Amino acid sequence: MLESLLCFKHLSDESSILNLLESSKDYFETIEGISPDINTACSILYHRPPGVNLSQKNTVGIFYNQIIIGLADMIFGYPKTHTVYIGLLLISPNYRKTGIGRISMRELERHIVEQGYDTLRIAVVRSNAVVKEFWRKIGFIETGEVKEYRGTRIYSTCEIMEKTL
Ligand SMILES: CC(C)(COP(=O)(O)OP(=O)(O)OC[C@H]1O[C@@H](n2cnc3c(N)ncnc32)[C@H](O)[C@@H]1OP(=O)(O)O)[C@@H](O)C(=O)NCCC(=O)NCCS
Repeated sequence: MLESLLCFKHLSDESSILNLLESSKDYFETIEGISPDINTACSILYHRPPGVNLSQKNTVGIFYNQIIIGLADMIFGYPKTHTVYIGLLLISPNYRKTGIGRISMRELERHIVEQGYDTLRIAVVRSNAVVKEFWRKIGFIETGEVKEYRGTRIYSTCEIMEKTL
């Protein structure tokens, strides 16, 4: 039911996600140590690891009744050829815990598999470890890898989780 009301569209305009980011101020303060602004929006749409082309990146808006209520940022073929790295999955606070994160990932996974990728990868920042439960519930497992994490003002660690599709 909810599934049929959601739609997913590629995002390319940083101003279109600013309100969404501002509604999740707490999240950005927790992992970046700053409030989100237009630079945060640009970074979500365009920033990528060294050696990754812009064509490998796809940031998708999650829309409910034409209103943007979330986004998923993905990097295809990173760090391995058949892996898709989820840079961010963000659902607006008013819509959390209603199944939208799970439904969105299910939809995105369908397209990802169709394109020949077999693994999803996510890094969970230590200060946001509470969301590991969400990723576990949708089939991700801890790989045991712990990496250095450098947010704008926060230096910490992140745990890598993966899901085989
Ligand atoms: C993490 C996030 C994307 C989850 O989206 P959501 O739409 O709230 O998740 P769902 O409603 O689909 O939840 C699916 C399951 O995960 C559980 N879950 C979701 N968020 C959780 C949390 N923070 N802690 C524990 N369990 C959680 C739900 O209870 C649900 O469990 P159930 O199937 O047993 O009922 C959302 O909370 C969010 O945008 N958080 C801020 C950004 C963020 O931290 N992103 C992840 C970066 S690693």
